[in-house]
Amino acid sequence: MSSFFVNERAGVPETIRGPGSSLSIHRKLPGYRPSPLRFSAVATEKLGCGNVMLKDESDRFGLPSFKVLGASFAVYMELKRRRRFEDDAWNDLDGLVRLCRDVLPRGLVTATDGNHGRGVARIASWLGLGADVFVPAGTVPARIEGIESEGASVTVIGGDYDDAVEAAASTASEDLWLVQDTAWPGYERIPAWIVDGYGTIMDEMEEQLATAGRPAPGLVAVQIGVGSLAAAVIGHFRSGQEGRAPVIVGVEPDGVACAFESVRAGEIVTVPGPHRSVMAGLSCGTLSSLAWPVIRDGADIFVTVTDDDAFEAMRLLAGDGIVSGESGSAGLAGIAALLRDGAARDALESLGLAPGSDIMLISTEGITDPVLYGRVVNPPGR
Ligand SMILES: Cc1ncc(COP(=O)(O)O)c(C=O)c1O
Repeated sequence: MSSFFVNERAGVPETIRGPGSSLSIHRKLPGYRPSPLRFSAVATEKLGCGNVMLKDESDRFGLPSFKVLGASFAVYMELKRRRRFEDDAWNDLDGLVRLCRDVLPRGLVTATDGNHGRGVARIASWLGLGADVFVPAGTVPARIEGIESEGASVTVIGGDYDDAVEAAASTASEDLWLVQDTAWPGYERIPAWIVDGYGTIMDEMEEQLATAGRPAPGLVAVQIGVGSLAAAVIGHFRSGQEGRAPVIVGVEPDGVACAFESVRAGEIVTVPGPHRSVMAGLSCGTLSSLAWPVIRDGADIFVTVTDDDAFEAMRLLAGDGIVSGESGSAGLAGIAALLRDGAARDALESLGLAPGSDIMLISTEGITDPVLYGRVVNPPGR
């Protein structure tokens, strides 16, 4: 069942990460183009609000999710830290590889529920490195094949996402860099750069809104797995800002809502497995230690959604020609769940959301589980 609560302590977080420089780096990587800002007429009509807009991350550098933005920027920053150079010392990937030849490791290692691992595997292949990727039991074959298609080697471990992170961390060495998208005490440098890398989405969004002549959205929804994406969204919209607009809504799957549970408890709470949600990208039991204070102090409302809510959102977006997977559609599912609840609508209004305001979503993935996508969007007999 979907549930929500209003975060009474939300304001401007102290530990916020301000605007970064990732967009100028991403622009120099092979195949860069901004992800499209799309308008969904079908979702707008269904929700009865201002325009529903979304950043469509179904094709980032040819990969089906936004995650490569974080991994690429973090590896770049680690190279820069070791080799010490200015951003203008290279113009393209070949130049970067030449510049960093002496500091490149043998490979990269990470844990993933699919998307981040594929991003890490892509960066490794760009740099001519190996990649070892650990995935939890039950990861669907298509996601494993996606990672392997980048040249990485995949190990399925007998446990959940948190267990995969432990396995990856214990494999890392000076020559096999851990590129993990979640932080814990003592491991924060790389995850912080990953958050900065996601900032590219918001920087592009601002440019696209300006070009389209649209005002700032009144509400932004963000899906939460370990919370790094949410930290980037909150960082963008809350830094250097006095007021509370837009309203920021964190969306998680029912049964794996680690931000929801942690903020309610006032401390990081691990949601034990097994995690049964189809929203694999959001099925993380523990928040990133870096994201935690930002989310605790920066997100206005938390809402959980069921698998069926996500399926309905996938179909809705497909009706507009927008290809969005189960974790990708969860943001829309969360807003739909809030708007069909009278108490939640009142809460949004008291947070200052005007009735005709535009809503911004991030469709964080396209098709990453083709079997499920086909079953949900084109069920046999329809
Ligand atoms: C498709 C998708 N959306 C959203 C997220 C959530 O990002 P984070 O784990 O940074 O909260 C993930 C994470 O893997 C994802 O794969």
